[in-house]
Amino acid sequence: MRKIFLILCLAVCTVLTGCGNEVGQKNTVELLFPNPNSGIWKYVGELCAQLMREANYEVDLQYCTDAATQIEQLKEAIEKNPAAIVIGAQDTGALAEPLALAKEKGIPVIAYDRLIMHTDAVSYYASFENNSVGEFQARYVEEKLNLKSGAGPFTIEFIAGSPDDSNSTLFFNGAYDYLKPYITKGQLVVPSGQTDFRAVATDGWKPDNAQARMTEILRKYYSDGKSLNVVIAANDDLAEALIKAEQSVGYNGAPTILTGQDAGANGVANIKAGKQSMTIYKDPAILCAKIVRMVKAVTEGSQPAINDVTNIRNDVMTIPSYLCIPMIVDIENIGIVKDFR
Ligand code: BGC
Repeated sequence: MRKIFLILCLAVCTVLTGCGNEVGQKNTVELLFPNPNSGIWKYVGELCAQLMREANYEVDLQYCTDAATQIEQLKEAIEKNPAAIVIGAQDTGALAEPLALAKEKGIPVIAYDRLIMHTDAVSYYASFENNSVGEFQARYVEEKLNLKSGAGPFTIEFIAGSPDDSNSTLFFNGAYDYLKPYITKGQLVVPSGQTDFRAVATDGWKPDNAQARMTEILRKYYSDGKSLNVVIAANDDLAEALIKAEQSVGYNGAPTILTGQDAGANGVANIKAGKQSMTIYKDPAILCAKIVRMVKAVTEGSQPAINDVTNIRNDVMTIPSYLCIPMIVDIENIGIVKDFR
């Protein structure tokens, strides 16, 4: 009789608390992140995993270098019935199909930094104001070149991020739309004529692709001693690609105002060496903390911090979001940056 009672108790416990696989692994969080060699993703993944563990979650952290691998990782993660899945998408347009299964199984999904498209399976999204990233780069250029007081003409070129990352158009539009009036007035000129996102995008955020494109542009449009005054590079990796392209053609025009993003080790070193003008600082500790709150909310029914319930639409649904504010960093305030190695 006592034995039967014990077995009954165990069964009830399994159903109520979910300590068995049938109703999900209550404390396991699957963290799927993109290419660890791009931007500061390696640091970000490790930091998020650490903060989740400190909040008593078991974490399975995985990176990928291509979309197909991440799709497989996601399918396997769904199989495990975790308490939540956090995704920094490698290709923000490629996850709708596996995510439909996550929704069917009732697994909460949280999008990290990059908004996931074509799906209604995302519970929350946390990121930085991605439009502001580009706008802040543009404002920096405006100030340094005195554009408001009519200075110019200056030459400018753009290096945008990867088309398979929904952030890339936000970064580009944020910068381009802000500078467009100066282009229209002729204070900024684009000798290559490349002002369309498709023309300036960098597949896979790969610096080699950007370096090849910029080398060609420098040879074609800046070979007669013409100076390249400004380059809006979407992140620090792409800024470094420009530096290498200039070195490879022996560029000897005026110094280029060069933007970046991430305050990664390469960006910080290049700013200190006077090769890059600024970067956009997005402290991952702030973002990861928001993500932990979101995970708690979906696993414990608590309230996550949300500051946008209307503006973040992914073409299927509006996603409750927390958007952090990025910061401009240059040689003046570089000391505030943590070491993201
Ligand atoms: C992130 C950037 C990063 C880039 C390349 C973007 O989605 O927001 O911080 O530099 O991806 O990895």
